[in-house]
Amino acid sequence: MSFRPINIGVIGTGWVGGIRANACANSPLVKELHIAEINPLKASIVGDETNASNVTNNWHDIINNDSINAVIIASTPESERYPIVLSALKEKKSVLVEKPIAPSLAETDEAIRIAHKNNLKLTVGYTRRFDPRYAYVNQSIKSGRIGDPVTCLLSRNITREIGTKIKGRSKLSPASMGGTHSIDFLLWCLQPRLPVRVYSQQAGKLFSRESKTPDHQWIMVTMDDGSTITAGSGWVLPLGYPQYSQSWIEIIGTDGSLTVDDTHKEIILNSTKNGIEYPLSSMPGEQVDHVFAGAMVDETIHFLNAVCNNQPLLVTAEEARLVMEVTNAADISAESGHVVSLI
Ligand SMILES: NC(=O)c1ccc[n+]([C@@H]2O[C@H](COP(=O)([O-])OP(=O)(O)OC[C@H]3O[C@@H](n4cnc5c(N)ncnc54)[C@H](O)[C@@H]3O)[C@@H](O)[C@H]2O)c1
Repeated sequence: MSFRPINIGVIGTGWVGGIRANACANSPLVKELHIAEINPLKASIVGDETNASNVTNNWHDIINNDSINAVIIASTPESERYPIVLSALKEKKSVLVEKPIAPSLAETDEAIRIAHKNNLKLTVGYTRRFDPRYAYVNQSIKSGRIGDPVTCLLSRNITREIGTKIKGRSKLSPASMGGTHSIDFLLWCLQPRLPVRVYSQQAGKLFSRESKTPDHQWIMVTMDDGSTITAGSGWVLPLGYPQYSQSWIEIIGTDGSLTVDDTHKEIILNSTKNGIEYPLSSMPGEQVDHVFAGAMVDETIHFLNAVCNNQPLLVTAEEARLVMEVTNAADISAESGHVVSLI
């Protein structure tokens, strides 16, 4: 396939933005990489790693640059990102943004409308869909390998180290920070079924000693065919590795079941200095010499390809909006103790 390489901007080159910037720099789909990062040390490290064409501390420089076709927005806090999304779309740049697209459904609708009007790609970083094991679950359900799905469970926990980082910058709940990935994944697997009812409960014993942040949240969703989803999201695991995450997936169907052990216990490093650690266990993945162990690089390249070659996106903005409806309903349910109807 012939293609015309694009110029891309990455705004926020911390942990996730750094991975995405490196993926862009290594791709033949990218002509120029521009970086905006307010932390001078991170700007300099990622600028050098990627040999970026331009490094700035002002995201407006990227938005105002007419030669840039697309932007990846991975800055934090999440609450300050929507003006960047909106300006990018208004300046006719395709957007990949880390979840959520916007703070509210009304603003999400506004972003979707502008993206359609300007014929742009707008997507959200739902990285799990690019993990081969998760793609296999989706394929198995959609192809009927386990019959008609009855119930789907996905439990994910991350360390208190990441939890502390998130709660320090954000009032978003476990449902909208970590649970959103699980809800997106399971709604995707169960398409074309739609969610109709949501019930959720939170628990908090550790972080609540100092703040109102809960430690964990369960979300139960009933789909329009009667199948159910249960998604759990917590952020108080002890450290097992920097950015350690563990998940467990159980799909039960009328003609079979599927279980994925995503707890990252397949590699065990035991050292006198650090004790037992579970390497390569973070959600986005990490670089190991010449290979990337994880899904975020493939996801970033998928976005570049969608923009370069006008290919469809795997994660549409409309799907991300539906996920937001469910996670918003979960927070209302957790607060009120009632079931929330979506119809
Ligand atoms: N897709 C996934 O699997 C996945 C995994 C982890 C985190 N995330 C999401 O990715 C996002 C980034 O998370 P992170 O852990 O990389 O955060 P981080 O704090 O490591 O990085 C954010 C960066 O943004 C920079 N920044 C802040 N304001 C800025 C501005 N106005 N202009 C330019 N840069 C600015 C900060 O200096 C920082 O370096 C979060 O929304 C997080 O929820 C996604």
